[in-house]
Amino acid sequence: MTVTNQIKHVASPLARQTLLDGDLTRPVAGSRPIKLLPWVQVIKIGGRLMDRGHEAILPLVDELRSLLSEHRLLILTGAGVRARHLYSVGLDLGLPVGSLAPLAASEAGQNGHILASLLAPEGVSYIEHPTIASQLAIHLSAARAVVGSAFPPYHHHEFPTSRIPLHRADTGAFLLADALGAAGLTIVEEVDGVYTTDPNGADGKKAELLKATSFAELAKLKGTLPFDPALLEVMANARHISRVQVVNGLVPGRLTAALRGQHVGTIIQTGARPA
Ligand SMILES: Nc1ncnc2c1ncn2[C@@H]1O[C@H](COP(=O)(O)OP(=O)(O)O)[C@@H](O)[C@H]1O
Ligand SMILES: [Mg+2]
Repeated sequence: MTVTNQIKHVASPLARQTLLDGDLTRPVAGSRPIKLLPWVQVIKIGGRLMDRGHEAILPLVDELRSLLSEHRLLILTGAGVRARHLYSVGLDLGLPVGSLAPLAASEAGQNGHILASLLAPEGVSYIEHPTIASQLAIHLSAARAVVGSAFPPYHHHEFPTSRIPLHRADTGAFLLADALGAAGLTIVEEVDGVYTTDPNGADGKKAELLKATSFAELAKLKGTLPFDPALLEVMANARHISRVQVVNGLVPGRLTAALRGQHVGTIIQTGARPA
């Protein structure tokens, strides 16, 4: 009787190697990943802009509405004053950073629900993280835009290096845009762009707008930025998104100009090679 061995041996270049040796993994893992949704424009709306209520939100909603015929949008919202209140209560009670992260994220989601409700007549809805992760393509085939929370879902996996979550809405929006290989990422703020120092701070009069800068230059700036500092580290390792534009959402037309490729606000070069 003949015994046929039916075991299939799968040849894999990484099968017998440590994943810690860059020289061994680079030939397999070093190339640029595919772009999943190269036509989607990602727009991150700051929570503090949402906090301003109808005076800031309604003109922005009008602008988003008029953009729908030109672009397909993933609109991601951040957290504002309610998350700050949550942090102070939670920190006072001694909650760990991994418990604070989803609490703050829930405010980003609330802001998303508000925005999606206002854009609902255009077919826009709020979708949760698992839907963004696995069904974004079908949703964006059915509607010109969807809204989601910009906060990344770290929960108890958040790094314990700080008592405030390190990875917040700007980092989350960038991670998503880069993973999708999106057409662009625009961060909507309540200031004209990134300045040398906080334009609303004590030295505000000395603040100069940086029209063009890079993640490396910003890492050298002492002082605050209008986005999470962790974003600079993520930008350094970006694969697709080679520039991020920061624009003022309180000035009608700025977001539209940015999406049409015009240089408004601040353009930040990341570590990704332009395609
Ligand atoms: N270097 C800087 N350039 C511009 N704005 C800055 C800078 N440093 C601090 N800010 C301040 O950051 C504010 C935005 O705060 P932020 O926490 O990013 O809000 P949001 O959650 O809405 O994105 C701006 O209104 C501005 O006063
Ligand atoms: Mg910001």
